[in-house]
Amino acid sequence: LDNGLMRTPPMGWLAWERFRCDIDCQNDPYNCISEQLFMDMADRLSEDGWKELGYVYVNIDDCWSSKDRDAQGRLQPDPKRFPRGIPHLAQYVHDRGLKLGIYGDMGTLTCGGYPGTTLDKIETDAQTFADWGIDMLKLDGCYSNSSYQEQGYPMMSKALNATGRPIGYSCSWPAYQGGLPPKVNYTLLGQICNLWRNYDDIQDSWDSVMGIVDWFFDNQDALQPAAAPGQWNDPDMLIIGDFSLSLDQSRAQMALWSIMAAPLFMSNDLRTISSAARSVLQNKAVISINQDPLGIQGRRLLKEKSGIQVFQRPLSKGASALVFFSRRSDMPYRYTTSLKTLGYQPGVFEVFDVFSEQRLPELKDSTQFTVSINPSGVVMWYIYPAADRWKEAEFEGFSK
Ligand code: GLA
Repeated sequence: LDNGLMRTPPMGWLAWERFRCDIDCQNDPYNCISEQLFMDMADRLSEDGWKELGYVYVNIDDCWSSKDRDAQGRLQPDPKRFPRGIPHLAQYVHDRGLKLGIYGDMGTLTCGGYPGTTLDKIETDAQTFADWGIDMLKLDGCYSNSSYQEQGYPMMSKALNATGRPIGYSCSWPAYQGGLPPKVNYTLLGQICNLWRNYDDIQDSWDSVMGIVDWFFDNQDALQPAAAPGQWNDPDMLIIGDFSLSLDQSRAQMALWSIMAAPLFMSNDLRTISSAARSVLQNKAVISINQDPLGIQGRRLLKEKSGIQVFQRPLSKGASALVFFSRRSDMPYRYTTSLKTLGYQPGVFEVFDVFSEQRLPELKDSTQFTVSINPSGVVMWYIYPAADRWKEAEFEGFSK
């Protein structure tokens, strides 16, 4: 969507995967969906080094609203859990240099059973969000059907634009239509949405991450061309810092989401996150690969019988990113190849190892090299032609 927003994939925090629909503020005040939770996360994003790296969205998901609209037919937050109202929360977030996202649903009810946005309410809701100072809308698609969605998603795009407030627009539409052409029209989505959920919800498990990764790369011919500045495929939230991923699996999620040019919305508890998870999420090289200004989504190049998979993303200034990923479960696997085998042009290349944060010796395209890849782990490289000496300064910037 050409609204000037999200020219690189949006980054921030989204409540759903980690905090779900916990509305029990009596018994679970620290974790329930309330203004306090979002204020806490805004504090963490602004004070713990996240904001400077680009993590600026603080996004509310389902279960924020009251069970009924107000007398004027507008959505309203639950008064007990958001006693000071959404404009107050937006102000709090904006005061910290961050942006506030909210959640709605193109249908009669949200997935959690709260009031949805029916066709006749689209303009009212767009205007309410703009009046409140909202910066991004995730519009879900429960309790509707394909013809309803076909009308509603473009209408909301127009209605948001008509408010005059820049509001990033995340559409769950394709996820409700199987995610693939011909049922899903990615040309149209690129024109009306800034990002879109293509597939299933992520859960806090490695199986869930792998299911998503396999679906996106198995269908890369349909999905990869749809991404560009202002329009992104969304494989769903990062679960790094939650309960299920090892350090290697955390690096793998971060690496593959960056190859996919995916939005980076963490769904974790930033108040208690481990320093190991934080260092994966705050790795400057992987973030700069994710945020590359060309906005070209990467692809899976190879699926070896050994269980090694190789992914690549073209980057600006002739650079590229490579990910070597092991689906094995035995021990670190020594994988031997050459840049030439991976399709690189003749020449000498500089290589920066993203997670060891080290520069490697210069590499000729024809030289065989071996990477050691941990089980369910990755080796990720940032590569550029060695002739381009002027790029070194930028590249040094990745090291601490
Ligand atoms: C759907 C969406 C999720 C989340 C829930 C909320 O399942 O795909 O991301 O928003 O609804 O109920």
